[in-house]
Amino acid sequence: MKAVVITTPGGPEVLKLQQVDDPQLNDDAVLIRVAATALNRADTLQRQGMYPPPKGESEYLGLECSGVIESVGKNVSRWKVGDQVCALLSGGGYAEKVVVPAGQVLPIPSGISLKDAASFPEVACTVWSTVFMTSKLSSGETFLIHGGSSGIGTFAIQMAKYLGIKVFVTAGSDEKLKACKEFGADICINYKTEDFVARVKEETGGKGVDVILDNIGGPYFQKNLESLSIDGRLFIIGLMGGVKAEANIALILAKRLTVQGAGLRTRSVEKKAEIVSEVEKNVWPAIAEGKVKPVVYKYFPLSEAGEGHKLMETSAHIGKILLLA
Ligand SMILES: NC(=O)c1ccc[n+]([C@@H]2O[C@H](COP(=O)([O-])OP(=O)(O)OC[C@H]3O[C@@H](n4cnc5c(N)ncnc54)[C@H](OP(=O)(O)O)[C@@H]3O)[C@@H](O)[C@H]2O)c1
Repeated sequence: MKAVVITTPGGPEVLKLQQVDDPQLNDDAVLIRVAATALNRADTLQRQGMYPPPKGESEYLGLECSGVIESVGKNVSRWKVGDQVCALLSGGGYAEKVVVPAGQVLPIPSGISLKDAASFPEVACTVWSTVFMTSKLSSGETFLIHGGSSGIGTFAIQMAKYLGIKVFVTAGSDEKLKACKEFGADICINYKTEDFVARVKEETGGKGVDVILDNIGGPYFQKNLESLSIDGRLFIIGLMGGVKAEANIALILAKRLTVQGAGLRTRSVEKKAEIVSEVEKNVWPAIAEGKVKPVVYKYFPLSEAGEGHKLMETSAHIGKILLLA
């Protein structure tokens, strides 16, 4: 098969579509002929040699895909050859074929095209497993999403609105905030021109928000603690701003805050299967109802993966960038 190879750690130009060995099927997995895969921010780190795949996983990039099942391991009963599916991967999506544990496979959500289905597994599993399964974000609560226009953010806005949550977002331009508003965000804050802590306080009558989904890390830690309400929950999924923080942790005691972080890729196969199953139960109906839509900014052929990475690194995109195999 062909796969995008990181020829040497470096810039987007090191990505080359090359002939490689097919992945080997095992008894508990399926082999998918890939129709589309999607970029994730972590791919740009892996390309630079900073985010190696977990031991035993594919060396190729790609944390999600859609496609058609080409073969099925002998312990797998749910899926059959010819099924159109999408899947959460630990790697290997930037290729013509990928092998994935059967528990990480999902049907194509009703009403979604085969290629656009590749935009959902990683964002849906990340957002559902963090702020919903863990932080227990619920109807009637308030929710601040940093990076509202990111792949993660555009999904999180729609899912939270579907569940009756008031959504605050931050983003770095008015164009991005306009898009967030169209996806349903209630309060849109340009972090380059406004102090988000002050705005959150103003909009909540001084109370703060119930839950924050954070992709910035260190530089936002103190500000996030200040922006939370009593019994508030901060979930850190990214460290785009840096890893070091100095904060007044008395706020954690005084407001009974919960601070948590997690990475999806290093979860066990069993935990990933549990998350995927919860996503199918809780998120897929929202997509089928048309309440959560794929947000695809641009499609590239697999052979132009480097162009996709260049675009992602400009941060000009809104939503997901897809590669078509
Ligand atoms: N923990 C997990 O399991 C998990 C899983 C998936 C994703 N993530 C994390 O979630 C975040 C979003 O991922 P994604 O794939 O949705 O990313 P994405 O679409 O590339 O969006 C990232 C956005 O972050 C904003 N940003 C803030 N600080 C930035 C900086 N220093 N450099 C560049 N952009 C910056 C940019 O928007 P503005 O112009 O508004 O600043 C950018 O559009 C990433 O941090 C990613 O690593 C974590």
